[in-house]
Amino acid sequence: MQKLIINGGKRLHGELSLQGSKNSALPVMAAALLCEDTVELTNCPVLTDVYSASRILNHLGCQCSFSGSRAVISAGSVTKTEIPEELMREMRSSIMFMGAMLGRTGECTVSIPGGCELGPRPIDMHLAAMRKMGIDIRESMGRIICHAPSGRAKGARISLAFPSVGATENILLCAVTAEGDTVINNAAREPEICDLCGFLRSCGAEIKGDGESRIVIKGKNKLHGCTYRIMPDRIAGATYLSMTAAAGGEMILTNACVQEMEPFISVLEQTGCSISAKGDTIYLRSGARLRSVKERIRTMPHPGFPTDAQAVLMAALTKADGTSIFEENIFDCRYRHSEALIKMGADIQVLGKVAVVKGVPSLHGAACEATDLRGGAAMVCAALAAEGRSVITKISHIDRGYEKIEEAVRTLGGDIVRV
Ligand code: EPZ
Repeated sequence: MQKLIINGGKRLHGELSLQGSKNSALPVMAAALLCEDTVELTNCPVLTDVYSASRILNHLGCQCSFSGSRAVISAGSVTKTEIPEELMREMRSSIMFMGAMLGRTGECTVSIPGGCELGPRPIDMHLAAMRKMGIDIRESMGRIICHAPSGRAKGARISLAFPSVGATENILLCAVTAEGDTVINNAAREPEICDLCGFLRSCGAEIKGDGESRIVIKGKNKLHGCTYRIMPDRIAGATYLSMTAAAGGEMILTNACVQEMEPFISVLEQTGCSISAKGDTIYLRSGARLRSVKERIRTMPHPGFPTDAQAVLMAALTKADGTSIFEENIFDCRYRHSEALIKMGADIQVLGKVAVVKGVPSLHGAACEATDLRGGAAMVCAALAAEGRSVITKISHIDRGYEKIEEAVRTLGGDIVRV
């Protein structure tokens, strides 16, 4: 099993080009199933989750090839409609293939998806929406067997109880080739939803209102292929900015999505870092010591503060002057990284959905296990800010979402190796 060894306590300095977005690439890869022609994706991140998506595509009879950050997907012939449990378990986004398969063939058999353990992650909203679109769903021995009696899903008016990212994406995937129009009320407004819609529109879909709470989709008979550039990864961007903020130093982040990162940047700025942006480039300078964030950091659906950036910002604030308070409102169990940070000397108290972080003068290196993707990244962040050596194991969690994290950190001058 691989691990990361980090010698912390050094200031970071350098320029880094941001990777493509995982949470955009995965639903877009599922969406490629809707096109009989070839789809070419650029700026596609090289990640284990992306390879998991390609294994599902291959299993279904599609061809998927990679060359650097370019992915080519040919879904000319879909030969299977069932995704085995072991492929479903590899990641949460495997559930996106439900909407895409229903959109393409009118049937599919899936099971409960895997993904980071952040508390219960049901798919009830996905299933209720598919049922509203006329899909028959039967659950048997852990399998979820879905089919459209007329061979095609039907447009519907769907109001989500919560603006779920995954449910919004699944509905979009099923609706673009459904019979009639679909309206999603209380839709998620995350930038990755807009990127998926951008891709679908490039394939000929008719969608209006993405980025707003009400999305309207006009069902089409068929979509065509396209070439599409995946948006930059705002959470990986938040992670590398947090690392430099925590360790001190200065960095230039290129190929960034500045506007989409604003909810994070506006909070990070309150720590005293100097942050400016021009075009798709962000410049950050972090002085000797950060200030705590005075207002409560509440994770919320976009455009609120992103839950995916909570752990890395927490790592940066462990050494700030004063106390910062987090409130995690999206997932029930998203403070699992706090134990490792405490092991490095942080003062964190977790009480339900609130975490109180009292800044300490210094952190020290420690051995810790990555608990989940962003939690693992938070440990790297804290280790870079800590004095001495840290060893982080179970880094397969980190590899699911960060493209060669050790190379990116070394570009910034960090002392990190993978062994
Ligand atoms: C997506 O997960 C992201 N994953 C997550 O990123 C991200 O944290 C999350 O959106 C919120 O922004 C991908 O895009 C692959 P949700 P998703 O459906 O779609 C509840 C990362 O680190 N819910 O918006 O699973 C759910 O339990 C990952 O990159 C239901 O109750 O998120 C959660 O409490 C982690 N029933 C809340 O809604 C449902 O049917 C938000 O989930 C669906 C969701």
